[in-house]
Amino acid sequence: MRKFLLITAAGKGERFGGNIPKQFITVKDKPVIIHALTAFFKYKADIKVTVVIDKEFETGLKENLLKYFPEKEFYIIKGGKTRTESVKNGLETIPDLSLVAIHDAARPWVSRNLIAKGFEHAEKHGSAIPFIDITESVREVDGKLNRSVNREKLKLIQTPQFFKSELIKNAYKSINRLFTDDATVLEKAGFKIHLFEGDRKNIKITYPEDIKLVEAFL
Ligand code: C5P
Repeated sequence: MRKFLLITAAGKGERFGGNIPKQFITVKDKPVIIHALTAFFKYKADIKVTVVIDKEFETGLKENLLKYFPEKEFYIIKGGKTRTESVKNGLETIPDLSLVAIHDAARPWVSRNLIAKGFEHAEKHGSAIPFIDITESVREVDGKLNRSVNREKLKLIQTPQFFKSELIKNAYKSINRLFTDDATVLEKAGFKIHLFEGDRKNIKITYPEDIKLVEAFL
């Protein structure tokens, strides 16, 4: 099946702060999003890529794409106010009967091995969602009360998330609420989610201190 990448980069990174969103910050000589794209091109040099972007950063992105990947072509699509809307817009560029990886530009350390596993599992199961175990203790807080939760039953979910394209496209058409990831959209549309083991180093940059961790890995 043909393979596509949809990379979400239209967020403002409000929790991160600063003038430019976290996905465009330079880490180890390259913008974060360029590291993420490089990982996918290492897996498959001719993977077709759609980047969802805010108008304000489109020119800068195009300059960087030309600088780092002069021989490649990209679909550049306008993002929405929320991640859900941004993915919806981007999915319009993905054909049916193919596989799509949906990845947050703010995760620059995705490995080639994780990408390969994800596409394999998605071809077999329809979806493939990477998880990692929780190593800290967890409590559920409800107003002034709180109680312990069995962490064995809880997993942290990462991107990229992999899908048969028509499944996730139809799922996004069927929802009218906002969700923080694509697996939840597919689940709400009535499908079972297939999980596979992700990678602890596949860190999502959210706060400035996360940059230090990513620098250590890159
Ligand atoms: O805000 P958060 O870190 O959860 O965003 C996850 C990803 O979704 C980021 O890569 C961000 O750029 C993207 N996003 C988007 N459009 C939005 C909001 C977030 O593409 N409106």
